[in-house]
Amino acid sequence: MRMAFICALSAILLAAPAFGQPPSPVPPGEEEVDPYTISDANAGATPVGGQELFAAFHGHEGISRIVDDLVEQVQKDSRLTEIFKASDFVRLKRTLKEQFCYILNGGCSYTGRDMKSVHADHGVTTAEFNALVEVLQAAMTREGVAFSAQNRLLAKLAPMKRDTATR
Ligand code: HEM
Repeated sequence: MRMAFICALSAILLAAPAFGQPPSPVPPGEEEVDPYTISDANAGATPVGGQELFAAFHGHEGISRIVDDLVEQVQKDSRLTEIFKASDFVRLKRTLKEQFCYILNGGCSYTGRDMKSVHADHGVTTAEFNALVEVLQAAMTREGVAFSAQNRLLAKLAPMKRDTATR
């Protein structure tokens, strides 16, 4: 009985991230961030229905390639380099992949911060928001994602402009 209780308690503690604790220990290669509550609601959009859109993005591998490409390009694009110069690209890649996978209904959970608080101090302009969308569109095109599918993801991201672009 006592053993069963200890086992149950251990299971609850091990499952702590599911109850809203930040990832612990800090994932390899990432910098520590201030504590926050983990929730899929932080992703800023609800998942699409069905599996077609996730398939149109070529699943986990396709999303992974698109995000790697995006994060590489923002470091080269003169409109965006300054704003991303102090970023933790290991964490950014991980959380963006989770976020896209969650929104595309690929069965992922989003463990990153909410859009409003993570972008609050960056003073992103509308022009910079549009530049990032362009870079994402180019990455999706290089992956061979159909324009109709690209536009379905962009439609989910567009309302996040109010929380990410503050100027
Ligand atoms: C729909 C639009 C956007 C989405 C979905 C998005 C998503 C994200 C995500 C998931 C993170 C990481 C969250 C975390 O660390 O917990 C992040 C961080 C960040 N984003 Fe965005 N973002 C968007 C727009 C933008 C724009 C337009 C810019 C600037 C042009 C931008 C610049 C940044 C920067 C600088 C960080 C912080 C990276 C760091 O501190 O290490 N984001 N964004």
